[in-house]
Amino acid sequence: MEQTQTDFHQMPRIGDKAPEFKAITTQGKINFPGDYSGSWVILFSHPADFTPVCTSEFMTFAAMEDRFAEANTKLVGLSVDGLFSHIAWLRTIKEKIEYKGMKDIEVKFPLIEDITMEVSKKYGMIQPGESNTKAVRAVFIIDPKGIIRTIIYYPLSLGRNFEELYRAVIGLQTADAFSIATPADWQPGDDVIVPTAGSCGAAKERMESDDIHCYDWFFCTKKLSKEEVLKTVLKK
Ligand code: BEZ
Repeated sequence: MEQTQTDFHQMPRIGDKAPEFKAITTQGKINFPGDYSGSWVILFSHPADFTPVCTSEFMTFAAMEDRFAEANTKLVGLSVDGLFSHIAWLRTIKEKIEYKGMKDIEVKFPLIEDITMEVSKKYGMIQPGESNTKAVRAVFIIDPKGIIRTIIYYPLSLGRNFEELYRAVIGLQTADAFSIATPADWQPGDDVIVPTAGSCGAAKERMESDDIHCYDWFFCTKKLSKEEVLKTVLKK
């Protein structure tokens, strides 16, 4: 099928302001991202209601909602299904589905109806090579100022790892709070990466410093305790 000009949207990028939209959801109307100002938010899409991978994902995400709330992070789902389908699917999940020890799972976060695909097109969630009629599994992590900080897309067949999304939220907030970066596979309590020194002198001084460990002049880490991360990010 040929793509027309009206179908074309530039994909949002990390660092962009989250595209604005108004939508109807299972929790009423929302004005995005304005309604979420001051909170982190994960906007995510799924291909279709009443499908197995999506059901496993919704149960897992809903079961973790309180943990995200502790990290000042709200969840907003979307698919191109209609409101009545959303309501019926979420009711079925709550009343009938028991999966991996999860049961009676109530999805309390809003699920956007997007029959017109207006929102999903704005966010590059319709990827014709994968499907013209369903959103891929997109994840946008948006900060309290409405800036997109992380984007992840998965195909229809691959269920997401929600612990990784939680790790990403905590990692972003830790990087902001302590002006550091996080290395591969970082978890709270692991060493963090300090910015590269601006000059040779500073690098040498740093390499000799007690609380910083340098693998070379461009790769230095320091300790950041789990307690400090939890106290700052989760206020615990
Ligand atoms: C699923 O969620 O199971 C699914 C949805 C669309 C295509 C393939 C799988």
